[in-house]
Amino acid sequence: MSELFDSIDRNKVPAHIGIIMDGNGRWAQKRNLPRTAGHKEGVNTAREIIKAAAAIGVRYLTLYTFSTENWKRTAEEVSFLMGLLKAHLRTEFEFYKKERVRVLHLGDKAGLPADVVHELETVEKDSRNFTGMSLVLAINYGARDEILRAGKKMLEAAEKKAETRQFQAESAAGNIGRFFDIPFLPDADLIIRTGGEKRLSNFLLWHAAYAEFDFNDILWPDYTKEDFYASIAAFQKRHRRFGGIDGEEK
Ligand code: IPE
Ligand code: IPE
Ligand code: MG
Repeated sequence: MSELFDSIDRNKVPAHIGIIMDGNGRWAQKRNLPRTAGHKEGVNTAREIIKAAAAIGVRYLTLYTFSTENWKRTAEEVSFLMGLLKAHLRTEFEFYKKERVRVLHLGDKAGLPADVVHELETVEKDSRNFTGMSLVLAINYGARDEILRAGKKMLEAAEKKAETRQFQAESAAGNIGRFFDIPFLPDADLIIRTGGEKRLSNFLLWHAAYAEFDFNDILWPDYTKEDFYASIAAFQKRHRRFGGIDGEEK
């Protein structure tokens, strides 16, 4: 495929990559187009990057698609994004099927329009037996919101079975992860943000505790497979210590 693609060490591919797909609006404005044109173009980039990630054996790819704060945008932009999502989920199913990609939703379904929830639930159900990469779509997602909802679920469980040993053991272990939207979603190894901003904007706060970061200036619609592979190649050169000391084990 390409030199970069070949240079990636298949034994050290990040298991979970999160992407903050930023810069659609600016991409469009630079071309004197409405912001929505950038979102449309951004969908094509997403498809390319999903394929690129699956091709090198990434297990989980989380795409930040719509945040709990994005409701602040104009009604026109929000409804365009919801429509795009709905259409995308339906038309992309054949692609997910071909690539054996399992789709999972991360975020609060309660705040989403019923038709979007319907498409999400359908694609989650129809792709549940696909054993390739898991594509995690963060929609109406905010890490704080997820952590707060998990805390509430934990309390409810505590009320129901305060006496049981299992709950006591879990709460003692601080096992809040069991109450997250996707309890088995592993920690993020690599977080990529396009579009030039150097912040997390409420993305995966918990899961990113030891993530490596690639903040780049490329606007999302311009982002390519080669950029993605370059980011992974750079990741593979880093030393992750997780608080320990390089090369030493207890
Ligand atoms: C990211 O692009 C996509 C979403 C948040 C849905 P933006 O729409 O934030 O693009 P910029 O940052 O305004 O250029
Ligand atoms: C983050 O981008 C959210 C998504 C990419 C879905 P934003 O454009 O919303 O982030 P801020 O407002 O620049 O922090
Ligand atoms: Mg933005």
